[in-house]
Amino acid sequence: MSILRTLKDRFRPVLAELVGEADVEKVLDLIRPAQDARFGDYQANMAMPLGKQLGRPPREVAAHIAQRLQLDDLCEAPTIAGPGFINLRLRGAVLAERLQAAAGDARLAVPPAPQPRTYVVDYSAPNVAKPMHVGHIRSTVIGDALCRVLRHLGHRVESDNHLGDWGTQFGMILYGYKHFLDAAAYAENPVAELSRLYRHVRGLMEEREEVGKFVLEETAKLHAGDPENRRLWREFMPVCLAEIDRMYDRLGVRFDHTLGESFYQDRLAGLVDELVRRGLARRSDGAVAVFLEGHKTPMLVQKQDGAFLYATTDLATIRYRMDTFHPDAILYVVDHRQSLHFDQLFAVARKLGYRDVELTHVRFGTVLGEDGRPFRTREGDIVGLESLLDEAVRRAGEVVAANDEAKPGGPELSADRRRGVAETVGIGALKYADLAQNRTSDYVFSFDKMLAMNGNTGAYMQYAYARVRSIFRKGNVDRAALAPSGAAIRLETPEERALGLQLLRLGEALDLVLADYRPNQLTAYLFELAGRFTAFYEKHPVLKAQPDALRQSRLLLCDLTARTIRQGLALLGIDVVEQM
Ligand code: ARG
Repeated sequence: MSILRTLKDRFRPVLAELVGEADVEKVLDLIRPAQDARFGDYQANMAMPLGKQLGRPPREVAAHIAQRLQLDDLCEAPTIAGPGFINLRLRGAVLAERLQAAAGDARLAVPPAPQPRTYVVDYSAPNVAKPMHVGHIRSTVIGDALCRVLRHLGHRVESDNHLGDWGTQFGMILYGYKHFLDAAAYAENPVAELSRLYRHVRGLMEEREEVGKFVLEETAKLHAGDPENRRLWREFMPVCLAEIDRMYDRLGVRFDHTLGESFYQDRLAGLVDELVRRGLARRSDGAVAVFLEGHKTPMLVQKQDGAFLYATTDLATIRYRMDTFHPDAILYVVDHRQSLHFDQLFAVARKLGYRDVELTHVRFGTVLGEDGRPFRTREGDIVGLESLLDEAVRRAGEVVAANDEAKPGGPELSADRRRGVAETVGIGALKYADLAQNRTSDYVFSFDKMLAMNGNTGAYMQYAYARVRSIFRKGNVDRAALAPSGAAIRLETPEERALGLQLLRLGEALDLVLADYRPNQLTAYLFELAGRFTAFYEKHPVLKAQPDALRQSRLLLCDLTARTIRQGLALLGIDVVEQM
């Protein structure tokens, strides 16, 4: 069990007596890592609000709690500070013992979730037949990281890529294909030609109003089952998917299911009928809408012309997922601009009878260019995903080369190695830069910042990892023999203690990630870890430490640091390199 979870278990009965079982979890959230190591390792801040609630002086409440706590085996005697903070300092022996256990455990002693749940995670979901762009990075990378963390903690995850594969963009390329196809170009490179057609038609739609009407007609024909349009759709789909899959391969992202909007099309009419029959939706002027208490606008599920909507498909999707996977939660990792859609969707799903499932819109902000506006190319297009990846890797190549040239003993990497390292560092930097943001904020995309070798960046974390690894290479130390050797971990200096404590907190960081679906809790943890390692390593010798038992202990701390960074990055979908 993580230290924090253990502490909460000890506080729980004491607090339950004061506030009752129902409110106890909320109060337990006020046990936090201490901001300042001088005050201890953890701090419990509930005495202030409780004092108010109970009409007693907070310091007295704190003393009451501290007196009842059974913590002797874990902590030194709690102290009470200021208005009523309870400060907790873990026993050194407890830290050492837990670190020892982590060292001998492939999971680094990260405890699984006490109650494993089933999650459906809906993420990435690009609209196919349009080129993928920078906006798709966020959903893909955040969703992937959440899936990895959930699985690592023992939850069952069904990841599902709800592709937009049935929308107007197909009407656009159908129209384009029928009127402006360059057959030779299509034979040569169908993706490029389809993208060209898409862009060409988009341009025309801006110039001439009737083009929009033709496009809608093509879309409607596709939906109505027109054989020609269906045949073309089936011809275009594999081509479009191959293109998207190339991006996923490069990003190292995989889905359990790819059930796009088209998958649900023959379920929509029945669903709308059912909504009407059950009195949940009303037909007016041919259109069908669900009216919701507390919502200004109803949710439209069928238009006057008979067409179904994005929301209708999403409702059918919920039903399918509930029937197929029986999830405890469905997470939608989607742009914050769709908040209204999801509010309404969830409200309608509740009406349909899906009351117990957690439905969460894991919303995120927009990626901005350095001018603070949505990130676009000079031509005014949103920046394409592929060119973004290429540019990140190219720039990472420069950073890697410069770093290698500057090594005191001369360069260490062959040209081939450098290329491999650049791909890992470039892609990692891009992912990390996104994951390190508070997901609900917009953020400014900057290659220079994301590839900086200091600061909270992917390149810095990968470098921190490689640096620890180099200690082992330099000292010719066999890592594999280290943990089984039974060498004891000693935490005799403040820096070693601070590092050791942080190493034990990976599980807490992962709990925080899942509490609010925020991967930046993990990047923040890793950055703090790297900082504590640096503070330790700058002050204390490792390979030259004497006596040998101390050297062994420090090597164990180094190895745990490397493994923790590697594990943490892996949970973010980021690889490491042994040498950089
Ligand atoms: N294809 C949609 C878009 O690009 C996102 C779909 C998100 N998932 C969902 N179930 N609505 O905006």
